[in-house]
Amino acid sequence: MDLDWKSLGFNIMKTDFNVRCVHRDGKWGELEVHSEETFPIHIGATCLHYGQESFEGLKAFRGADGHIRIFRHDENARRMSQSAKGILMAEVPQKLFIEAVEKVVLLNKEYVPPYGTGASLYIRPLLIGTGPEVGVRPSREYTFIVFVMPVGPYFKEGFKPVDIMICRDHDRAAPLGTGHLKVGGNYAASMSSILDAHQKGYATSLYLDAREKKYIDECGPANFFGIRDNTYVTPESHSILPSITNKSLQKLAESMGMKVEIRPVPVEELANFDEAGACGTAAVITPIRKVVDIEKEITYRFGDGENPGPVTSKLYETLTGIQNGDRKDPFGWTKILE
Ligand code: PLP
Ligand code: COI
Repeated sequence: MDLDWKSLGFNIMKTDFNVRCVHRDGKWGELEVHSEETFPIHIGATCLHYGQESFEGLKAFRGADGHIRIFRHDENARRMSQSAKGILMAEVPQKLFIEAVEKVVLLNKEYVPPYGTGASLYIRPLLIGTGPEVGVRPSREYTFIVFVMPVGPYFKEGFKPVDIMICRDHDRAAPLGTGHLKVGGNYAASMSSILDAHQKGYATSLYLDAREKKYIDECGPANFFGIRDNTYVTPESHSILPSITNKSLQKLAESMGMKVEIRPVPVEELANFDEAGACGTAAVITPIRKVVDIEKEITYRFGDGENPGPVTSKLYETLTGIQNGDRKDPFGWTKILE
């Protein structure tokens, strides 16, 4: 495959195959392979009207040894089940999810970027209500699709510190809403504030808890962490997505002898962190240079203002090293596909 791998951004790109499976009359059918990117849908489908939609995001990496490694897809399978339960969709059995993901990666293996390019194959599983309903009730039919594309960094800066702004006039998720699920509605709700942040020159917006606006929730399409006194601190909140990257970084921090605190994090605590970052599959680890609270006229700065901090860098190198096979995988997070 002749692609300019190093200059890939995070964009849709056509690959050769996607896989699909339909849930009808209470059971899942056969996993089908398709090459077209579109599919016909009933105009009354519940995903179109009432947001019965969940998606996942995970990656496959090419190692120096030429092998393709897939990172923690069992965790994405579990999370998609939680999302399905949360908005009353048919759950994709773990075995089907894993089979579909592995199959679509192997079918498109030429698109897994070469080792050393910094790019990876992004895998996007999607579960939607495809049965028609006009009343607000769950669909009687669901379609599960997995498609893939090679991607570069989500934030154009890559592993370089970014500036973000606190969002005070918008919430992405309600206190007892669906923020902990990976469902489309949360992303629709976040678009205007992310656009606002971009227009003001920031990489993304930092959400606060919707009830009191006192605590940090998360950071655009990624979780937040702060580093201080050999401690990794990350928010606990019902309205943030439980990030698999964050969970992995907590383990790595512990294994590096750090303390890990998962608890409500008041906004003012930003002043105490030596380093801060956003983490997620797409964002990997994106170091944060400053967080600006425009309304309160406060700027929180981290590190030397130029480079990622030492702990953030070590976490980044360890995580990406495990993902591409440069480092030992003591936790069994990767699966070699070929
Ligand atoms: N938070 C939000 C809102 C996200 O969309 C994502 C991306 O999946 C994350 C956090 C990070 O989660 P993960 O590390 O599992 O990709
Ligand atoms: C991911 O990190 O995989 C995500 O799903 C974020 C996405 C909204 C771009």
